[in-house]
Amino acid sequence: MKNFDTVLRQQHAGIQKTLTEVSLKWTKQDIIACALALGELSFLLAEHHNAEFSVLFSKIWNSPKLKEGGPFCTYFYNFMLNDRPLARVTRIINQVRSAVTQVSTIEIPENLRPVFEQHSMAGIPLEEHLAIRSLVEEMKAIIQNWDEKNASWFAMALGELHDLVQKNIEKEETCLWALVQNIA
Ligand SMILES: [Fe+2]
Repeated sequence: MKNFDTVLRQQHAGIQKTLTEVSLKWTKQDIIACALALGELSFLLAEHHNAEFSVLFSKIWNSPKLKEGGPFCTYFYNFMLNDRPLARVTRIINQVRSAVTQVSTIEIPENLRPVFEQHSMAGIPLEEHLAIRSLVEEMKAIIQNWDEKNASWFAMALGELHDLVQKNIEKEETCLWALVQNIA
């Protein structure tokens, strides 16, 4: 596989920079600027996750080598087993919703379903992507219809978002991409 990581790495840097911007605007309680930065983050995440899926995950998700395991980061397993990203984000979203708008789960898009149904290792970062973007969409909806009563939820959600994004990027750059290079 040709070197794919320059563009993806730049996208990671852009995501981290924009997430920092969201936090700065939030700290200043500039709600409008925070909402704009969150919109930009949503765009960058969608762009990056689509790129990552087409250049990486779609090519390796059903590789027998991936199923054999090998030098896979144990950190991946621990993170997944402790608190799966989709369950974690579903819980966070429900904390800000009324009883009638609660969600039971986050829908997995059609094109990703085979990856999850066959329990591919590639489902781990893809689950993180879905969780991260679902959380960002909820945060966008909350900040676009701002009500001061949601301030503590938003601060908590922002902390969770930082954690999810940071762990996803760290795992991809230090472990997953190297594994994919060996397989593809
Ligand atoms: Fe990534």
